[in-house]
Amino acid sequence: MKVAQFSRIGFIMAAAGSAVGLGNIWKFPYMTGMYGGGAFVLVYLITITFIGFSVMVAEMLIGALGRRDTVGSFERLAPPNQKAWKYAGFMGFNGLIIMTFYSVVIGWIFYYLFAVFSGLPTSTKEAKTIFDTLVGQQAGIQIFWHTVSVIIVGYIVYRGIKGGIEKFNLILMPSLLIILFGLLGYAATLDGFHKAWNFMFASDWSKINSEAIVRAVGHSFFTLSLGMGAIMTYAASLPKQASITKTAFIVTFMDTLIALVAGLVIYSFLFHEGAPAAQGPGLVFISLPVVLSNFGTLGTVLALLFFLALAFAGLTSAISLVEPVVQYLIDRFDWSRTKAVVVTSLVYWIVGIGALLSYTKAWGKLFSVGGKPLFDILEFATDSILLPLGGLLIAIFVGYVLPKTKVYAALEHEMGEKYFAVWRFSIRYIAPVALIFMMLNLLGILKI
Ligand code: PHE
Repeated sequence: MKVAQFSRIGFIMAAAGSAVGLGNIWKFPYMTGMYGGGAFVLVYLITITFIGFSVMVAEMLIGALGRRDTVGSFERLAPPNQKAWKYAGFMGFNGLIIMTFYSVVIGWIFYYLFAVFSGLPTSTKEAKTIFDTLVGQQAGIQIFWHTVSVIIVGYIVYRGIKGGIEKFNLILMPSLLIILFGLLGYAATLDGFHKAWNFMFASDWSKINSEAIVRAVGHSFFTLSLGMGAIMTYAASLPKQASITKTAFIVTFMDTLIALVAGLVIYSFLFHEGAPAAQGPGLVFISLPVVLSNFGTLGTVLALLFFLALAFAGLTSAISLVEPVVQYLIDRFDWSRTKAVVVTSLVYWIVGIGALLSYTKAWGKLFSVGGKPLFDILEFATDSILLPLGGLLIAIFVGYVLPKTKVYAALEHEMGEKYFAVWRFSIRYIAPVALIFMMLNLLGILKI
């Protein structure tokens, strides 16, 4: 059973560290570019405000009341005749699925951290060749960096809640903030900044379609780390005196702010050089280095800082993706932390190799299903299907299954009666309806 508890600031940093990740700095900017800018951003902001925040409070609540691993918390809180709810706790395993590709991307970042020193590419063609060669041909190098990422993440998780997760978050998160806001300060002096601002905040509704909406909603869950038990697992170590509502608010706010800042920074650099916005997942690996190469030595420093921030963000999220499963194995089977970490890491290390091979020329066919690379399948399955499904289960469980008196007792003193009613309405009606609607939409998209 759990003994370790976060300090209050440790918990905020750990939850924020989980939320702020590759989703904010790598994925959000390129998705914004792919789905047309402002309108996508608006759907994302609306989802975060009206659904994401409420679901985060609900997910934290399950952890804080359950005080176990995800399966154990659901099982403990479910009424006696509804113990099947414990199966909802297996959403914790989604973290491992995410880690299969997440760790590969962290590996790319490590590779770039070193590549920066040998000079930045000066043309998009050159940059594209570097990225495409890495991803399409250099399986060995990718496996190496993926392995490095698995080992670092495994080591932090092995050190546990206090000595690993809390400690690293307390160092890495402030560093990330300093670097990112430093970059923003610099980006704001460029003439691309205005364009970037308009691109992100002026909505062009002609670009929005049902796919863009589904992706924006899915991304809101991904970026807030919702629907797979990461926040729930951390909340099981929530210090008793901490406020769930306040923490959820700070985390949601920070996460959104950082995504917007990352988008502004990247697009300012990009537009400063007149580069186009829609570039896909290669955005920060292809366009950004080229753009920064024009800044000479300063560019190298900026690129280094940028990839460092990206690595920090990725690592603090990765540990929260692994911890739920580790915690489950410890709680459930009495495994030692070491054994739990080793087994968990091996699983996603191996599948991760499959994911990275699915992008290579030599192995791509073997690791694709229906023409779709395993990497893309894993990414789409998690952020657009499994996380929203997890969010739906959390909303239903807290909104309908947990006795209202219990929920009220835990949250009323934090929210006050009025906000409690608003929050509960959102959990009972807005979130489920929106998520079910989104899933129906998804069926349409999958058919195509
Ligand atoms: N929120 C993280 C990101 O934005 C990813 C993540 C998803 C982490 C789900 C934990 C749980 O990169």
